[in-house]
Amino acid sequence: MTDFNYDQTLHLKNLLSPDAIAEIDGWIKKYPPERKRPPIIAALKVVQEHNGNYLTEELMQAVAEYLDVPHIAVYEVATFYSMFHLNEVGKHVISVCNNISCSLRGADKVIEHLQNRLNIKVGETTDDGVYTIKTVECMAACGGAPMLEVDKVYHENLTEEKIDQILSDIAAVELNSKEMSNVEAKD
Ligand code: FES
Repeated sequence: MTDFNYDQTLHLKNLLSPDAIAEIDGWIKKYPPERKRPPIIAALKVVQEHNGNYLTEELMQAVAEYLDVPHIAVYEVATFYSMFHLNEVGKHVISVCNNISCSLRGADKVIEHLQNRLNIKVGETTDDGVYTIKTVECMAACGGAPMLEVDKVYHENLTEEKIDQILSDIAAVELNSKEMSNVEAKD
């Protein structure tokens, strides 16, 4: 376990926008005051989204302080769920399941193809900061093995062609967003 050096002066309100705080407060209000742990996942999701798609020790600490739960409870949630990233990641995190069903049905080939196409290894991010590849435990889509998840969408029964299509679709989204930014910059 990480040996945190907690700074008791950290406060979520100093680290996040008022909108993000309001969103977390909304989740807290859904539960009776004595039930402090259920909003942890939602709070971490909000925090991660507002921090460029990853969590830091300081942010996890601040969430614990804000929800009034033990720091370890927040850390356990953040490390248990593969949707949380504890290091800086690319804009599109490609999570490949390599648990038993997916392994038996070719997860290794999926990983190899992605690594070759993106020229990075598992756990790495492309130089342009667009893609990260990571491996994850079973995502409960074993019937569609091998599978991956990216941008909150599951892709199942993967083949090299399907993977190429997924990468093309992401590249198209990226190109579109670059063009939009250029147009806005000119206006
Ligand atoms: S083993 Fe891959 S989704 Fe279950």
